[in-house]
Formats: sequence, structure tokens, C-alpha cells
Amino acid sequence: MIVAIDGPSGSGKSSVAREVARRCGLTYLDTGAMYRSVAWACLERGVDPEDAPAVARVAEGVRIEFAPGEDGQRVLVDGTDATAAIRTPEVELAVSPVSANPRVREVMVALQRAAGERGDVVAEGRDIGTVVFPAADVKVFLSASPEARARRRAVQRQGGNLACGRDVAVDAEAERKILADLMRRDAYDSSREASPLRPADDARHIDSSDLTFEEVVRAVVSLSPELSARASEGAAS
Ligand code: DC
Repeated sequence: MIVAIDGPSGSGKSSVAREVARRCGLTYLDTGAMYRSVAWACLERGVDPEDAPAVARVAEGVRIEFAPGEDGQRVLVDGTDATAAIRTPEVELAVSPVSANPRVREVMVALQRAAGERGDVVAEGRDIGTVVFPAADVKVFLSASPEARARRRAVQRQGGNLACGRDVAVDAEAERKILADLMRRDAYDSSREASPLRPADDARHIDSSDLTFEEVVRAVVSLSPELSARASEGAAS
């Protein structure tokens, strides 16, 4: 079965997708990490993220692998562990033009579909329900207010995690900067020509602004009898 979870950055879709996959015995596919990996590979090789043909060549040649790690999934790019490197501010800046590159999208979508053919997946990103898996069994569009999303990111950067109830104090100025950056990225992701961020017509919308992490996970699982059955089987074993 295929579960597609789309939404803007900071909507909580990564944590939710990972947890739904764990509870239901599905494989988690983080497609944002794939675009980040291409962006990182470009920076490593001195390729300008705006140089579309050069970036396309990087995407065509790069090997991206996911491997289980002690504290979650590791991302290997051409055999190098880039798990932390793909989350830096430099990569955040480079990933917008990289992910707007139509050839990069073509290559990544082919890899994502191949992963879907290999088995049951929960895939999260921006275009999963619209482009990658339009026939997905379950489609979710997860959103949250920009303020709620900025707060989660700010707490995360300080080592906390609101999804796990670990709140920490954050610097107001840093939070404002995160909010501005997030809104810039939202505008870019939604207005680009290649696969802009938008909900699939048949996606179920969940607004996570005022929901706890557990409530969101349950809301997703309850959308499908198969997911609910898998989750109860997992809980019982
Ligand atoms: O979800 P994320 O923040 O890790 O995504 C990183 C970037 O990749 C973000 O700018 C949007 C882009 N992206 C995309 O264009 N399509 C996807 N399916 C996933 C992510």
C-alpha cells in the first residue's frame, strides 16, 4: 500500500510519516531528503544551484541511499553519510532552485516510484499525492499555521521536539527569522512551475496547528481501514 503525505515545511509531516510507517509496518520515504542530497552534492562539487544543466547532471549521477541508524534513518550520498550535512542553512538555501529544476524532479520521481514498486511505503513531500503516486491508497495534506510551524522549527533547532512534548526556550529573534525563511520557501515551493506544492483534489486535509503529535498520527491512521488494522496488529504484537 502507498500512503502519500504532502504539506509545507514544518507542518510536522516528517515526524508523522515516520511514526505512521513505524506503527503500520511500512517503509518511510523522505523525498525532501532526496532533493536536499542533490543540493548538498552540488555544493560539495562546486556546482552553482542555479546552473540548471550542471545540476541536472549531478542528479543523474548521484547515488542516494537510506540506511537504518541508531537515532533514525541515515542518508548516504555516494556512500558518504550526509544525514546532518543536508540539514544545514547552506543546503536550505540551495535546495529551492535545485528542487525547482524539472530534470532533477524527473530523476527523483523515477527513484521514488521505484521505491514504491518495491513495497509498502509512506512517502512524504510536496508532490506525492499529485505527481509521484496519484493513485496512492491514502492521501493526506498536512498543514499548520506559519507561526505554529516556525515555533516547532525553532524549538527543534534548540534541541527540543514539540512532537515529543520536549519544549525549550527559544530566542524570539531566531524564531522571527525562521518564520520569514519559512514563508519565503512556502512562496517559492507553491509558485514554481515544476510540481508546485498543492493538495491533490482527493487529499484529506489535516491542520495540525492545535493538535498534538499523537492526535495527528491517529487522524492519519484512522483514514484507512487497512492502516488501522495494521496499527492494531503492530500494537498487539
Ligand atoms: O521537506 P523538506 O524541507 O526536507 O524539503 C526540502 C526541499 O525540497 C523543500 O524546499 C521542498 C523540496 N521538495 C520538493 O520540491 N518536493 C518534494 N517531494 C519534497 C521536497
